[in-house]
Amino acid sequence: MRILGMCGSLRARSLNAAVLRTTAGLFTPPWELTIEPSLGRLPFFNADEEQYALPDVVAELRARLGESDGVLIVTPEYAHGTSGVLKNALEWMVGGGEIANKPVALVSASTASTGGNRAQAWLRETLTVMGANVLPDGLEIPLATRKITDGRLTDEPTIAALRDLLDSLAQAVAEARAQASNFI
Ligand SMILES: Cc1cc2nc3c(=O)[nH]c(=O)nc-3n(C[C@H](O)[C@H](O)[C@H](O)COP(=O)(O)O)c2cc1C
Repeated sequence: MRILGMCGSLRARSLNAAVLRTTAGLFTPPWELTIEPSLGRLPFFNADEEQYALPDVVAELRARLGESDGVLIVTPEYAHGTSGVLKNALEWMVGGGEIANKPVALVSASTASTGGNRAQAWLRETLTVMGANVLPDGLEIPLATRKITDGRLTDEPTIAALRDLLDSLAQAVAEARAQASNFI
């Protein structure tokens, strides 16, 4: 049961990366969360490259996405949208189609009291048009600097909410698997 975790921030002291690292530590076998390593190395999306010379780094991202049972996206909010890093990655994912029907959970951590709600709304629309099965409720983490200590999420109510979100993601993955086996 593989979940691919993607973080939209490249900052060394990113609050969102801290949330994703903490989330990875909550997984127990047979569940595992792999943090996607390529987002900062992807070239800007270029349809010519996609058609004629797909970069290896993109092919590898698509392969990991294809092998995953679900996706967890953790995003910062920049100017009321998601980050360019994440948007660029999503553009590369459109053509591969691996995210279609895949359960996707959304988390956003922000220094603001709004918790990245607009970035999530923006992402939800984009992922929905890509055919992903986005969980109806994401997790917004407002005032995140107060909830993260030494690069880890330490706020217990937020960790509990994160566990609930992971339960919902696991449920969606189980349902997707059951549906797939009905077709075989
Ligand atoms: C260019 C820029 C734009 C931002 N715009 C927003 C915004 O629209 N909404 C928001 O909640 N926070 C905004 N922030 C604050 C981010 O929530 C904050 O920088 C956060 O720490 C970024 O996530 P990270 O720590 O994972 O890198 C902005 C920050 C920057 C640098």
